[in-house]
Amino acid sequence: MKVVETVAELRAARAQLSGTVGLVPTMGALHDGHLSLVRAAREDHSAVIATIFVNPAQFGPREDLSKYPRTLAHDLQVLEKAGVDLVFTPSPDVIYPRGFQTWVDVTEVTQRLEGEARPGHFRGVATVVAKLFNLTQPDGAYFGQKDAQQVVVIKRMARDLNFPLDIVVCPTLREPDGLAMSSRNVYLTAEQRAVAGVLYRGLNAAGQLYASGERNPERLRQQVLRTLRGEALVGPEYVSAADAVTLEELHTISLDPLLLSAAVQIGSTRLIDNLVLPLELNNRADLSRVMGG
Ligand code: PAF
Repeated sequence: MKVVETVAELRAARAQLSGTVGLVPTMGALHDGHLSLVRAAREDHSAVIATIFVNPAQFGPREDLSKYPRTLAHDLQVLEKAGVDLVFTPSPDVIYPRGFQTWVDVTEVTQRLEGEARPGHFRGVATVVAKLFNLTQPDGAYFGQKDAQQVVVIKRMARDLNFPLDIVVCPTLREPDGLAMSSRNVYLTAEQRAVAGVLYRGLNAAGQLYASGERNPERLRQQVLRTLRGEALVGPEYVSAADAVTLEELHTISLDPLLLSAAVQIGSTRLIDNLVLPLELNNRADLSRVMGG
């Protein structure tokens, strides 16, 4: 496995890869969820490039950029074991050199949900991902379902800017109590961790309600909220039942795939999670097709 830090090294190493290339962009602090993206990319392509870059542009002024977990040595070890061919680990000035002033702004699907809670976040995500697509020229790029709105934004950007690649969405990997794997879970204290599974329990309870025939989006949202309110340490921020393509909040019964998502605050940690309904769609092929259209 080759590890490179500069644009020139990356371009040279990319030119050596033959066949199709799958890209797995990450911010490091890798867990099994990331490795499932690598496995999917390995299955689909002749070569896999992973990137590790904690992107300052997607953190707000009051967010966790300086304390975001950084575990580079461990990350490189697991990527090598997973069969990655090339890893790009740029520093911030490689991605945003002095004088940098060009941004990618996806204007509509970024307005609500995470976009409302984290102004500027998706501009940072779209810009860095567009740069990584340009730099690595992949045939497919792999993202986790957990960051559902990110997937929708990236798909929109890839279509609008004519990036010739497939966006593949891999299902969320979960801990035994249902908590979605996330690099930010390490921030939870033992007491907070013990109740964090409620986020999935709430979404799943609404998923079961849907499976039993309920199609009223408001009743689905209320089911999630009722479950979340059962845990005193958990502060619900939003619960959304939205169209999985446009992310518009649904107010009437819908036959289309629905993105049920929620954000909660537990102590100083903010967690997000989602399920696509019907529940049978939460697999790689269907998620890649229905999320963001
Ligand atoms: O999902 C992430 O880890 C990041 O948002 C990404 C896609 C690597 C862009 O920095």
